[in-house]
Amino acid sequence: MGFKQEIDRRRTFAIVSHPDAGKTTLTEKFLLFGGAINVAGAVKSNKIKKTATSDFMEIERQRGISVATSVMGFEYNEKKINILDTPGHQDFAEDTYRTLTAVDSVIIVIDAAKGVEPQTKKLMNVCRMRNTPVIVFINKLDRPAKDPFDLLDEIEKELDIQVKPLSWPIGDGPHFKGVYDLYKEKLNLFSGQNKQQVEEGIEFKYLDNKELENYLGESFAGTLREDVELIQGVYPEFDTTQYHKGHLAPVFFGSALNNFGVRELLECFLDVSPAPQPTTAEERMVSPDEDKFSGFVFKIHANMDPNHRDRIAFVKVCSGIFRRNTPYLHVQAGKKMKFPGPTSFMAAKKSVVDELFPGDIVGLHDTGNFKIGDTLSQGEKIHFKGLPSFSPEMFRYIENSDPMRYKQLDKGIDQLMDEGVAQLFKSKINGRKIIGTVGQLQLDVIQFRLKHEYGASCRYENLPMYKACWIESHDEKQLEEFRKRK
Ligand code: G4P
Repeated sequence: MGFKQEIDRRRTFAIVSHPDAGKTTLTEKFLLFGGAINVAGAVKSNKIKKTATSDFMEIERQRGISVATSVMGFEYNEKKINILDTPGHQDFAEDTYRTLTAVDSVIIVIDAAKGVEPQTKKLMNVCRMRNTPVIVFINKLDRPAKDPFDLLDEIEKELDIQVKPLSWPIGDGPHFKGVYDLYKEKLNLFSGQNKQQVEEGIEFKYLDNKELENYLGESFAGTLREDVELIQGVYPEFDTTQYHKGHLAPVFFGSALNNFGVRELLECFLDVSPAPQPTTAEERMVSPDEDKFSGFVFKIHANMDPNHRDRIAFVKVCSGIFRRNTPYLHVQAGKKMKFPGPTSFMAAKKSVVDELFPGDIVGLHDTGNFKIGDTLSQGEKIHFKGLPSFSPEMFRYIENSDPMRYKQLDKGIDQLMDEGVAQLFKSKINGRKIIGTVGQLQLDVIQFRLKHEYGASCRYENLPMYKACWIESHDEKQLEEFRKRK
């Protein structure tokens, strides 16, 4: 297969949601379709339950699992699919935002009974910043749900994006009959006994066909006809360009748990979603089909073995072909590096690979050289644009509590910050170090990892702050005056 075809057949995306909407379940069903796993429940444990805020065993387990599931690659219908996993816990929201810098599109899962939730909005804001194309999957139709038209209105209003339903639910909760696939014009029935959708949908190009009553009964058939007429009148034609620009979100309905409406979603997604897109660098746009390799680090993951401070840096290939044992320029460090064992993630297995194409993610063994956002290239000094830093919401002074090991503490803090676990600030007044996080869980993780990986102890002290602002001015003098005043 040629280079261009390899690019065209790749789909690199993330599935995101407010906790509990069904992201993990949907991911798992996708993997089942791709044959990447063969039992349900294989992905399930990749999240920290809300109750486990300080459960370190749970944190460790999560770290172990999430290396394996950070990238889930598989093949389906001749497409090479890379799903990038994002943490379920909202204290790790920044990790999720960073992962979104490495995807070409996103599937947002919404709970049909709850509608748009706070985390859904935040995630959508990040997508909007980068014009990332978004597909919405409205999940849990097997339970009593909000009215589908109300849900669409809510999405348009709360997520500030135009919507276009490509499937439509027939009933909900105990009366859920199935979905009408508007994209393929097929009727998919949700059968009472065997709720797993196995058969192909029934072709139904013309809904005024009286046959519809035989499948749905009079009342549901009538409602479906009315609904579809309304949809055709109210919502615009599906326009792939608008979707690719991030202006229009196709919407699907279904039940991930029952594997219902999932195949329609996956197949339509593979049809319409964008192949690897150009990446914006400070210097220029980098197109995937350029000859020379370039890529950037979007995630760094510490290994499990506390005796080795080895890490895996996850690099998104932006252009060219990444080849094993080939010297590449680490732009930020200004030195050449070779990688004898680059890892790819296929079917939840890690394996060493010789070549990776744009859209792929390569795992590189790292002994502390990389920071998030770093670039690798074939010589060009290029800097990919990441996300702006978000303001943390929780601040603590971090203090050494073992005077014999302050060096270890400093090193540990530096490396954890490189991994992007939290943000580090320094007080201009007293020089003390301040850790900024999104939630308590990150503080617990830092303390735990400093102890177990660096043998350093720390304690936190409260700080009456709730926001960090970055101040800029074209006028240096004014900025200096402001600094003095504040
Ligand atoms: P998340 O990753 O977005 O946090 O959500 P996850 O998939 O873990 O799903 C959250 C809960 O919702 C799970 O139940 C899951 O089984 C359930 N769920 C997902 N999709 C559907 C659906 O289509 N219909 C119904 N009725 N439930 C669904 P749980 O009880 O929290 O966990 P578990 O005990 O099932 O693991």
